Amino acid sequence: MKNIIIINGPNLNLLGKREKNIYGDIPFYDYFSNLKNSYPKIKLEYFQSNIEGEIIDKIHEVGFSFDAIILNAAAYSHTSIGIADAVSAIETSVIEVHISNIYAREEFRHKSLISKHAKGVICGFGLKSYDLALKSLI
Ligand code: DQA
Repeated sequence: MKNIIIINGPNLNLLGKREKNIYGDIPFYDYFSNLKNSYPKIKLEYFQSNIEGEIIDKIHEVGFSFDAIILNAAAYSHTSIGIADAVSAIETSVIEVHISNIYAREEFRHKSLISKHAKGVICGFGLKSYDLALKSLI
């Protein structure tokens, strides 16, 4: 059984409430429980934090034992050398995910420090981006 974790960064705890025109109206927990049920053969975990260091700690914790990490570092994608270095440091493959199409938004969102170290990047498909990332791993 594959061990895969979804790690969500800052403000993604507000999915379903936050800027619904961009991020949709489904709380992540609802989406996650459906996703988990759709892949009974995958041991799928979820972690969310608004704190950069906690995200780095979680990447270290799972990064030498899990089969893959699906990472939406949210705003930290554009700013955090620490998270990018953590992704570079581990052995586990990381799929970078964004709900929105970051290239169709403000210019400061066009660059992700994580992409260089990711196995692949999926963005712009709404919450389905997570499902597509999972599909790429099976
Ligand atoms: C996001 C895009 C980021 O630019 C933004 O800061 C987020 C969410 C996305 O999933 O579309 O918080 O990562």
